[in-house]
Parts: sequence; C-alpha cells; structure tokens
Amino acid sequence: MKKLEVLKGDITKIEVDAIVNAANSSLMGGGGVDGAIHRAGGPAILEECRKIVAKQGGCKTGEAVITTAGNLPAKFVIHTVGPVWNGGQKKEAEKLANCYQNSLELAVKNNCKTIAFPCISTGVYGYPIAQAAEVAVAAVKAFLKENESVEKVKFVCFDDANFEAITFEAG
Ligand code: APR
Repeated sequence: MKKLEVLKGDITKIEVDAIVNAANSSLMGGGGVDGAIHRAGGPAILEECRKIVAKQGGCKTGEAVITTAGNLPAKFVIHTVGPVWNGGQKKEAEKLANCYQNSLELAVKNNCKTIAFPCISTGVYGYPIAQAAEVAVAAVKAFLKENESVEKVKFVCFDDANFEAITFEAG
C-alpha cells in the first residue's frame, strides 16, 4: 500500500494524527502556513509554544517540537524550522532533510501513524521548489523504509508548482 500521498490543499483541513508546521525559531507564529495553523488551531497552540520556549528557548533550524493541534482536525502540530535559502552553500539541503527526519521521529515518539507536511522553506524562506521537493521526498522515503509504524505521509501542497515538483519526485 502506497505510504506516500501528494495532494493540493490547505493543511489546516487535513485529518491526520499530526500536521507539520513550517515555523520560525521563535515559535511565536508568523505568516504563511505558520499563520494559517495558529489562526485555525486557536490560542492553545501558541500557549504550548510559549511553554516550550520558556523551557528550552526557541527551536533551532532543522529541529522539531510538538504541541496540541487545538481546534484543528489533527491531534498534534509538529513545529519545525526550515533553513532560509542562502544560495545552497550553507548546508541548506542537510538542514531541510533534518526537518523532515526530526518531525517524523517526533511523530513516531508520539504514536502518530499519519502525518501531513507542507513544503517547508519554499515560501518566505525562498528554497527553490524543485530542490526542496527532491530533498523532502528523499528524506521521507528513507524514513519510511526504516519505520514500519508510520502508515501514511501526506505532502499537502498549497500551490501547483509545489504539487508538481513533489509529485514528480514521489514517482
Ligand atoms: N497549507 C499548506 N501549505 C501552505 C499553507 C496552508 N494553509 N499556507 C502556505 N503554505 C505553503 C506555502 O505556499 C509554501 O509552499 O507552505 C510552504 C511554506 O511556506 P511558508 O509558510 O512561507 O514557510 P517557509 O517558507 O518555511 O518560511 C517560514 O514564514 O510564516 C513564516 O513564521 C514563519 O518565519 C517563518 C517563515
């Protein structure tokens, strides 16, 4: 059964155990998918982000933290911080791969069987779409090969360019 699914849509509407948020290191919300998740999920998400920041400080690039999903159909939101594109010579690919890897590890630790990702870093952070798709799909496929417990990973693309790029990489 195909564990990888690619769809076009709004990740705040997706009913999976965990949706992943393309956050920033402050974890205090922002625009893009970060803004959409906090708006739709409500203040409970930010409250838990505040507690995490109080305990550990912010979230480093490539790292991930988990909170409630508040009013969203999902159970959890996994917040990860993607790399800002800086020409490709600053280990952006490695950091982006870490976002997917660490988010999936955290999802498994919290018994999540179904996870949805946005196309991390391809908006405000300017990561070229085709290159980001290649890194994202490779990282998820590598993880799925090692981890039986994950049943489904959905890439929820907000625009055609990302949808086509991820679909192409997913094969
Ligand atoms: N559902 C799914 N994907 C979405 C949604 C949504 N509701 N809204 C936006 N996206 C897509 C964008 O089209 C883009 O392809 O998410 C991808 C990531 O774009 P951004 O949200 O801009 O995130 P990113 O590029 O990782 O930049 C992160 O932006 O919003 C701020 O606080 C955030 O500082 C952080 C930065």
